[in-house]
Amino acid sequence: MDYFHFRNSLLHAEDVSISDIVRDVGTPCYVYSRATLERHWHAFDRAFGDYPHRIHYAVKANSNLAVLNILARMGSGFDIVSGGELLRVIRAGGDPAQTIFSGVCKQDWEITEAIQSGVVAFNIESEGELESISEIANRLEIEAAISVRVNPDVDARTHPYISTGLKKNKFGFPEERAMEIYLQARETSGIRIRGLACHIGSQIIELEPYRDALEKILDFVEKLAVQSIEVQEIDFGGGLGVRYKDELPPSPDDYAKQITEQMQSRGLVIPIAIEPGRAIAGNAGILITRVHSLKKNEQSAFCIVDAAMNDLVRPALYQAYHEIFEVIENGEGQRKKYDVVGPVCESADFLGKDRELAVRPGGLLAVKTVGAYGSVLGSNYNSRPRPAEIMVDGDQFQVVREKEDISVLMQGENTLP
Ligand code: LLP
Repeated sequence: MDYFHFRNSLLHAEDVSISDIVRDVGTPCYVYSRATLERHWHAFDRAFGDYPHRIHYAVKANSNLAVLNILARMGSGFDIVSGGELLRVIRAGGDPAQTIFSGVCKQDWEITEAIQSGVVAFNIESEGELESISEIANRLEIEAAISVRVNPDVDARTHPYISTGLKKNKFGFPEERAMEIYLQARETSGIRIRGLACHIGSQIIELEPYRDALEKILDFVEKLAVQSIEVQEIDFGGGLGVRYKDELPPSPDDYAKQITEQMQSRGLVIPIAIEPGRAIAGNAGILITRVHSLKKNEQSAFCIVDAAMNDLVRPALYQAYHEIFEVIENGEGQRKKYDVVGPVCESADFLGKDRELAVRPGGLLAVKTVGAYGSVLGSNYNSRPRPAEIMVDGDQFQVVREKEDISVLMQGENTLP
């Protein structure tokens, strides 16, 4: 459910017409809806009801300061994977004490910043990391809390690039090794064991992989208990999918119900942390692009637009489907099939293939469900500046990221003397 809809045949974000936004900031531009973000966050929060839980929004999905600030105001926690993301959380008014530090390669400076700012826990991904955290914590004389990321070897049945819970993936530790890390952590100075972390992948559209993962995790928690290691929180990661085309992902209610029932069936009430990114931000954002021209070759018809793979790489990178539709309801002119392509010099530069559209040069198109892993995965390829980002809030909108100036793209570059 989102707050993008047609009113008088014109696409609106909440109560703002997309054409008003475009008049101000041009195209391409990302448009986000505050009400949609809030709705999804609340859906997760409500789904767990009285069961002890915390929601740590995965910053990587969309790290715009306005997005983080809206979530921080709601009391959300955050899941970060870099010092840069930590800085963003702090700048956006987020609470480091509600922030979990995940990620496979934490640099010493990042660990230092994170300990100093008081993050709630580090999700440990390697032996070396445990040692680094201990060393830095001892130097700073601040105890660091850790969870060990366990890889349950469960197939999340998602795109292989975003599957993370299989033995062959680089993430976490297999159970036996995780046990050794816990035993080692218990003896390591500067370290306090807090919990256990697990994240099996992203865009997961079935509950079974979650169920299987949690069963394995809970078996493991019982083994830890035998060693007198108490897990104060299970961080069950993110990953809940969204609907891009015809997927039917479980609702936050179904997801939470399954988790809490699994806990109850074992008589456990271990607090749960979750790290949703996509399910909170995904359909809170659309990308608006202008049709530059229409072109036909022997085999295909192309709708050439001013947004490209540097603005939205998901179609090129994961063959991801994003719905594309006209900003004027039902479009203008005759409906035909087009490949919607951008200006970048690669055949991978497409936003959608074989899309029925009624378009003319100068018309506007919206690309749906790009609030997560849209702008954050953007680049300056082909020396293209990043587009503006807009946050709509009721009948108001605000530029929350200015369109990049081309001169910025050359900042820090030098020619030879
Ligand atoms: N926690 C951890 C440890 C993660 O690695 C991720 C995502 C999340 C939470 C959030 O997962 P979500 O709820 O958003 O599924 N660029 C890809 C997605 C990469 C996801 C990486 N990890 C895409 O565009 O599909």
